[in-house]
Order: sequence, then structure tokens, then C-alpha cells
Amino acid sequence: MFNPAQFSPAIQQRRRGMPLTHDQRHPARAAPRIFADSANIRDIEPLYRAGIINGVTTNPTLVKKAGANSWQQAKEMLTEILILLAPNPVSLELTALTPEAMLAQAQELAALGSNAVIKVPVGGYRTVDTNADPLTGLKVIRELWQQRIHTNATLVFNTTQAFWAANAGASCVSPFLGRVADYLAKHDDELGSPGNSLYQTGREARFHNTEYVACGGSRQDSGSRLVQEIVTVFAHYDIRTEVLAASIRNPAQLTEMLLAGADILTVPAAILAGVADHPLTDLGMQAFCADAEVFSR
Ligand code: G3P
Repeated sequence: MFNPAQFSPAIQQRRRGMPLTHDQRHPARAAPRIFADSANIRDIEPLYRAGIINGVTTNPTLVKKAGANSWQQAKEMLTEILILLAPNPVSLELTALTPEAMLAQAQELAALGSNAVIKVPVGGYRTVDTNADPLTGLKVIRELWQQRIHTNATLVFNTTQAFWAANAGASCVSPFLGRVADYLAKHDDELGSPGNSLYQTGREARFHNTEYVACGGSRQDSGSRLVQEIVTVFAHYDIRTEVLAASIRNPAQLTEMLLAGADILTVPAAILAGVADHPLTDLGMQAFCADAEVFSR
């Protein structure tokens, strides 16, 4: 189990500079924000109305899963979510691949609602286009920052991607901790160094496993350590770009993200449904209800 160091004074100081999650009078006003990782308004609406979430993240896979079969349907679905959530943020992801097309699509998505945050994949997408410029995502983030359009730098898998996205002007960065664990389960070398941060270390476009620089620890914890590492670096340099923990697979990882110092946790609705339950809570309540029967006489 992930066992992070205590919050450093730098992390505490950084959190104090972040926007409040709740009203000043609320006891958890400085808590990390909780978003729904979904494009399905039927999942989102009850969570929002109950005050459980204060933002939403979507991606093309989630939009397709929610039933959109065309760009027009996708935009209608996203607009409905933006209206429901306003003024809270909703991340809408770019699907275009060139800077020109991405910037045009960003304008189109930003026009859907003033609470739209444009999700920009960091990188050049060279598995999709071998000739692509590896700095494509960073250039788009930079340009959108100059246009005062908020961005969520997505598909982040190591700390340099997060740092450069912040440096380009991203409002938040999304490390995908669950996918790190998935990748590790399939590809990591048992005898290699812990972590699968995968940094490009030579001139050739190959990636190599490396240890996590700041965190160390066991290989099973790599996804959570990635988030802790980014938070630590951002705190050291007082970087106010928010760290949005994405690709969360279970409630244990939610606890790990709270311990790691994430600013935002985006969570699938099915996982949120399980966070308040515990078998001992159920058994305890069964006994209390049985004993309370006497009061209804
Ligand atoms: O916000 C997108 C991210 O959370 C996707 O996660 O489950 O597809 O790895 P997943």
C-alpha cells in the first residue's frame, strides 16, 4: 500500500494558495475538489444535486459510451452537462491532431459554455501520425493560455510532461494513475527498477523505465507515486497548476490520492457509489436499528 511521506510545509503552503472548494464557512472548504469522470448526465446529475461533485471530466471514449454517435450529438451532450454544472468546470477533450485544427476545435468547444475547460493531450501523438511534432500539445496549451482559455493537460504519465504542461500555462494536469498500474501489470520488468515513469533517455524515440525520482517505494504504487511526485515538484516551485488525479480504479486509490496531495480527484460514478459503504457500517446499523425498535413503542 502506498505510504507517502507527510505533507511537506511546501505542499501545505501551496494548498493554502489554491481556490476554496466550498464556502468560507464550510468545515472542508480547503478540501480537494471531487469531479465525476463521466459524460452521462444521468450519472452526473444526482451526484451534482447532492453536492458530492463540483466538476466533471469527459473524454471521447466516455462521450461515445454515453451514446453520442456524431460530433453534433457529442456537442449537444456536452452542452447539457455544461449548463447543469455552471459555473463549475467541465473538461472537454480535443480530438484533432494538428495545432491549427486543435485550436479551431478548442474555440468551438469553449463557445459551448464559459465553464468549459479544454482537455489537451500532452505530446505529439506519433502513434497516430509518425510525422507529428512532439511539442504539439504544449504549443496548443501555450496558445490557449495566451487566449485566456483554461486547459486540462491530459494523458500525463510522467513528471516532465506535467511540468512542461504547467510551464506552457495549463490550468490543471491529469496524471492517469490507473493506466500506469495497468501498463505496469502488462509490461514492467520484474527485475528492473521500481516505477514505470518511462522517460526518453536517448536521442532515439525510445522510452526507458526509470525509478521515480522523488518518491522511491514499491512498484505496485507507481501510479500513486506519480501523482505524489508531481505534487511535490509543483509545491517546491509554487506552481499553481492543479494536479487532477485521473483514471482512478477503486476507493483505495482515492485514499492514496488524498494522501498524495492531489488538488482534484476525478472519479467514475460507480466508484463514487461505493465510497460511503463499509460492511461494518452496515452491521453496526443493523444492531442500532434492532435496539432502536424499543423507542417506537
Ligand atoms: O478523465 C479520463 C481518465 O480518467 C480516463 O481513465 O479509466 O479510461 O483509464 P481510464
